[in-house]
Amino acid sequence: MKKLAVFTSGGDAPGMNAAIRAVVRTGLHKGLEMVGIMRGYAGMIEGDFVDMNSRSVSNIIQRGGTILHSARSEEFRTVKGRQEAYEQLKKAGIDGVVAIGGDGTFTGANIFMTENPGIPFVGLPGTIDNDLFGTDYTIGYDTAINTAMLAIDNIKDTASAHDRLFFIEVMGRDAGFIALRSGIATGAEAVLVPESKTDINKLIQTLEDSYGKKKRSSIVVVAEGDDAGGAFEIADKVKEQCPHYDIRVTVLGHVQRGGRPTCLERVTASRLGVEAVKALLDGKSGVMIGQIHRDIVYTPFEKAIKHHQSINPVLLELVDILG
Ligand code: F6P
Repeated sequence: MKKLAVFTSGGDAPGMNAAIRAVVRTGLHKGLEMVGIMRGYAGMIEGDFVDMNSRSVSNIIQRGGTILHSARSEEFRTVKGRQEAYEQLKKAGIDGVVAIGGDGTFTGANIFMTENPGIPFVGLPGTIDNDLFGTDYTIGYDTAINTAMLAIDNIKDTASAHDRLFFIEVMGRDAGFIALRSGIATGAEAVLVPESKTDINKLIQTLEDSYGKKKRSSIVVVAEGDDAGGAFEIADKVKEQCPHYDIRVTVLGHVQRGGRPTCLERVTASRLGVEAVKALLDGKSGVMIGQIHRDIVYTPFEKAIKHHQSINPVLLELVDILG
């Protein structure tokens, strides 16, 4: 192997820059040429490649976003798009690729490798959602839960000042990890996640019990993909039955995707980045490199995509007991 490429794809996540830096510097350390692919699969199809040296990744470990930019490419979903991408990689003399992203990124890589064997890909889990099977941790998750926690702390101050009930929507299209962690960390009365069916009557009962105990303000954290709807919809359903509540809704949105990565994020992303290059040099391919109980674990893309990381029921129970 002489030349490796790295790219980021799908939703960006804080810590992606730390991972890029680690991949590039490890490759250089091993005497390889390193290339960055801009804008994920879209840039791969267009041959939008940049040579990377040690200085290309200076001063980025502390920055959110991704210096390689990211995209969700429709063209890469077609055989023609993937064929063009393969030809671009071949033309550039790339012998191996590190893909940093989530479900969609690995689904694309998996199909690509079946159609075009010969260029090995390994993946690093990069998504704030933490929903990938085969790792305890995805790059971006720790920063996102801390960002959500601090934002909810702020809302709690005003909720308490005005005796209000707040529904706060956090990200997580298919997964409730951000909601659960940030909800526990902020003492939410309830946390609603896609992994567990939401019962509006039970929610109202919880809130009423809490008001019965003279609690005048409450927080309900809602994952955006909850089965009962988003925070606005759920708030409307509660208001219908409880017109006496003074309700407000806040959607945290993309504020959770940016910002300075936490220390945990920078260190873990760095470790995974080093392991990605080592894995390619060891002849590994078609695997996501994750971390389980501090150990490095290789999970085939197919498995990482098909299975869903499950939510810890003990943590869900914590909300009921402590909220
Ligand atoms: O996959 C990460 C994620 O942040 C989801 O939680 C969210 O639903 C989605 O990306 C939003 O994507 P976009 O920025 O493309 O709207």
